[in-house]
Amino acid sequence: MLSKEDNDILTQTDRGTPMGELFRRYWIPVLLSEEIPLPDCPPVRFRVLGEDLLAFRDTEGRVGVVDTYCPHRGAPLQFGRNEECGIRCLYHGWKFDVTGACVEMPNIENGDVIKNHMRIVSYPVVEAAGMVWAYMGPPNRQPPLPAFPYMDLPSENVYVTKYELHCNWFQAQEGDYDSTHGQFVHSAFDAVDTVRAKGKNIPRTLPSIDTPLGQVIVFGRPLGDGTMQLSAQQVVLPSMCPPGTGTGNGVEAANIRIPIDDEHEWHFRLRYAVQRPLTPRELLEFKMNGYAYAEHEPGTWRMKANKDNNYLQDRILQRQFNFSGMSAFQLQDAAMIEDQWGPVCDRTKEHLVAPDICIVLQRNRLLTMAKNLAAGRDPEEPFLLAERPIVQHLSEPLEPVAESKTLDEATMETIVRGMNTARVPDYAQAFDSNSLSEYAHRTWDEIAGS
Ligand code: FES
Ligand SMILES: [Fe+2]
Repeated sequence: MLSKEDNDILTQTDRGTPMGELFRRYWIPVLLSEEIPLPDCPPVRFRVLGEDLLAFRDTEGRVGVVDTYCPHRGAPLQFGRNEECGIRCLYHGWKFDVTGACVEMPNIENGDVIKNHMRIVSYPVVEAAGMVWAYMGPPNRQPPLPAFPYMDLPSENVYVTKYELHCNWFQAQEGDYDSTHGQFVHSAFDAVDTVRAKGKNIPRTLPSIDTPLGQVIVFGRPLGDGTMQLSAQQVVLPSMCPPGTGTGNGVEAANIRIPIDDEHEWHFRLRYAVQRPLTPRELLEFKMNGYAYAEHEPGTWRMKANKDNNYLQDRILQRQFNFSGMSAFQLQDAAMIEDQWGPVCDRTKEHLVAPDICIVLQRNRLLTMAKNLAAGRDPEEPFLLAERPIVQHLSEPLEPVAESKTLDEATMETIVRGMNTARVPDYAQAFDSNSLSEYAHRTWDEIAGS
């Protein structure tokens, strides 16, 4: 449970809000390169962090991400002419280049002089991994590009698309590291029955480990002999989460959650192979199968099965085959996250239990950083993302360890070394993560009152 004040901090990302400013210290993907495929192709209007923006690819192939409104009389530039290295407003012909500079002001006699005083908002952009990344923060705090493993891969090694979800970014992100939902909402019957019958097989959620990049979340799956199999994934701040499912065969997965505004989010969803191109069969599965990637409503970035049609839940499927009656992982998640007491989850009402530890810790990390920034302490983390290759999944399985509700020092060291990172003591001291193992023994009064 969170106070209303903290819930507001985590969920509000317009310019000037603590979390909105924290997002603006990072490079974030804002649209797909395929949306503006060719020089002088139609521009695309979109929204990110509550800002209405326009992307266009100019005659030289350069990408501009600029204010969507013309500064003359506010006409929307998405109807403009994308020609001769600039976007020209339809209303009176003012034209802007990818840097936001006004290069023509043809409706007045001295436009050649006046234009030099006129600019529109324009953000630095880079294309990588099939996405256009933007930096929307103060120029003197612009970090280098983050060293995600997919950033420099050839295009044939990466598949990415995006979805528009009608809920706040943070409840979507929390679903990515919700530790026990997989055994239920994502399960088919045999798996559910196994978990339910044995009960003890429900994974233990262990305290997260703070790192310079974000947090490593650790799960322990009891093996029934007094030991547990650990798995770990690194959530990179502010919103780059490895989803819980590995795809195997050297193909890795990543989710990136970017606020559109407080009640909508972009979900960028990646599959990539570092060592080889994706095979035609893998691409077919991602594009056509509808399981790892939900089908889009044609002409939109929404899922075809969505909140408006109850995610096409099939009650016969639910009775006979799977827990949800919904066909794709994403639908199963979307049905749970798009309406958690509404599009902005009211966390003052929740009753957190033991497996929610990593949710609590992630909130604490983000709140600490957002409040620090609001108090004038800029985060160093965005710069650290560029220092060495980022690892979000362990490449080698860990040896089983004795069942426990905490992690010993040696195991934590092994995990952070496998993640090519280090432990950050500051945050752990600010919020003693191991003490959260007390969550495992909470009484009803504690759950209801916390
Ligand atoms: S409103 Fe764009 S040129 Fe006048
Ligand atoms: Fe999920």
